[in-house]
Amino acid sequence: MKIGIIGAGNIGGNLTRRLTALGHEVAVANSRGPQTLAALAEETGATPVTVTEAARGARIVVVTIPLKAIPDLPSTGLFDGAEEGFAVLDTGNYYPRERDGRIAAIEDEGLTESRWTERHLGHPVVKAFNGTYAQDILDRHRPAGDPERIALPVAGDDEQAKKAVRELIDELGFDTVDAGGIDDSWRQQPDTPVYGLRGGVEEVERALAEASPERPESFRG
Ligand SMILES: NC(=O)c1ccc[n+]([C@@H]2O[C@H](COP(=O)([O-])OP(=O)(O)OC[C@H]3O[C@@H](n4cnc5c(N)ncnc54)[C@H](OP(=O)(O)O)[C@@H]3O)[C@@H](O)[C@H]2O)c1
Repeated sequence: MKIGIIGAGNIGGNLTRRLTALGHEVAVANSRGPQTLAALAEETGATPVTVTEAARGARIVVVTIPLKAIPDLPSTGLFDGAEEGFAVLDTGNYYPRERDGRIAAIEDEGLTESRWTERHLGHPVVKAFNGTYAQDILDRHRPAGDPERIALPVAGDDEQAKKAVRELIDELGFDTVDAGGIDDSWRQQPDTPVYGLRGGVEEVERALAEASPERPESFRG
């Protein structure tokens, strides 16, 4: 499958490593340009591209950059050339104090982080991996049925796109739990019980059910 990855940091880099190892055709982009991705390309066989080339021919486009950089992405043409019915996988989190600064629409309008992101991107997103340690992508994948296999919550409004993302995560070696739509995705945002949880399907379901819609003080700007 052709997969585009926008962001080549902790998460984007490790997804590039695993997805290429599984035989997928990965195009990867960062903010500084393809010439700065030579080492990752050499290591993985992925193709370094510009941001607007990443989605070409892709069935899944991963957006994995700091939340504050989302408005810097091109407002038109970002997904030009993607396969019909493509899914956008959003791994983002809002860290107002350490990294992103205050984003009024999230705090005052009460938008979920992914709803804010998809408004900027102009395309529905599927939220996954946002509570997964980047290193776990390399170290904690397990075959289906393995008792140590961990599960990830996946939220999204587009059922077809969510299905495509869940299938890819299964291939990457993790179970998934349907965490509802994007308006429900506060249940997996930072500081919720499921955030950073390394548990199986039942533990993830329980953690999602225990979440509070109140944004924690430490995640307010
Ligand atoms: N780290 C984790 O364990 C973890 C876990 C779950 C979720 N997340 C979330 O996933 C997202 C990515 O996290 P990360 O830790 O992978 O970030 P990171 O290591 O800081 O990497 C960020 C990547 O985004 C690229 N980038 C920044 N602005 C860009 C722009 N305008 N256009 C294109 N690319 C741009 C950077 O490119 P340059 O280097 O060229 O600037 C870099 O490749 C964040 O929202 C984070 O909260 C992280």
